[in-house]
Amino acid sequence: MSGEIEKKQMDWANIGFNYHVTDQRYVSNYKDGKWDDGVLTSDDKITISECAGVLQYSQSCFEGLKAYTTEDGKIVTFRPDLNAERMENTCKRLEMPVFPKERFIDAIERVVAANEAYVPPYGSGATLYIRPYMFASSPVIGVKPAEEYQFRVLVTPVGPYFKGGAKPLTIKVSDFDRAAPHGTGHVKAGLNYAMSLHAIVTAHEEGYSENMYLDPATRTKVEETGGANFLFVTKDQKVVTPKSESILPSITRRSLMIVAKDYLGLEVEEREILLEEVKDFAECGLCGTAAVISPVGKIVDHGKEICLPSGMDEMGPITKKLYDTLTGIQMGRIEAPEGWIHVIK
Ligand code: PLP
Ligand code: COI
Repeated sequence: MSGEIEKKQMDWANIGFNYHVTDQRYVSNYKDGKWDDGVLTSDDKITISECAGVLQYSQSCFEGLKAYTTEDGKIVTFRPDLNAERMENTCKRLEMPVFPKERFIDAIERVVAANEAYVPPYGSGATLYIRPYMFASSPVIGVKPAEEYQFRVLVTPVGPYFKGGAKPLTIKVSDFDRAAPHGTGHVKAGLNYAMSLHAIVTAHEEGYSENMYLDPATRTKVEETGGANFLFVTKDQKVVTPKSESILPSITRRSLMIVAKDYLGLEVEEREILLEEVKDFAECGLCGTAAVISPVGKIVDHGKEICLPSGMDEMGPITKKLYDTLTGIQMGRIEAPEGWIHVIK
């Protein structure tokens, strides 16, 4: 049980979504066509060639999931098998070697257990963010995949992704694209985030919390934000989410669609969503591991304001039910579907 070790003294309620160095991380190296055994290390620094593939051609990818302390004091993660599968798809798209699923889950278990003192207590409002990642470590100068790679898992305690926690956000329709048709939008490549930085800095300077990206081919359909998928609720309480080949298949969104249908008895639909119809929705939320479900109150499309009827004061009622049910499942207050909760200790 987590009560046996002494927790770090951190201001859990106010840590924000920031990196705090923790005690141990996992490292495994890929060389001569195979992964080594992998170790936990206290060394948080990496030494690689000046010409490493990651530095020259951005050959890198990552995942994100969380560890939670449940009501009865266990430490659990949420559907880590899906993160392993998504990283496998990402690696294949980026010509990187796959880190096997069982080893991916084992590495997560070991890093979380070794940093138990940093797993925020139940009810603190914080969680332990887990960041598995991989990068090309050997030199390349011609444009080609590297021969050697490093897979690592680091953890850091985090609070809410958006300042203000559950307060509805104002976002803008971006003039930039985050993905190309047939590009890498559907995988978790570091390069997708590098190219979103100018767009997010611009949005922040203009006073918006996030960008709504449109489909890059026609710029008429809703895609996602820089770090979360969209969920909308119609006026007749149907939960709808954009279907697109160029958005990241969010594990949170896929889980919420099941929660909406099986726990809340709502109709759900994954389909193309036109920007034009957003004004007709009752609620809007951003969903992801970091974002959980963050409500959106207003979407600004080149000066034209789309105000969701749920308003700027609190989450809409369906969004709130989805949020409470999902976090209830993750924190052990509500029984989870088979296989969703992975107990670490
Ligand atoms: N979309 C993008 C672009 C993301 O970076 C993330 C975060 O991982 C998500 C969606 C949400 O995915 P998940 O729910 O699996 O964390
Ligand atoms: C996550 O939700 O895990 C992500 O990777 C999103 C990132 C913007 C923090």
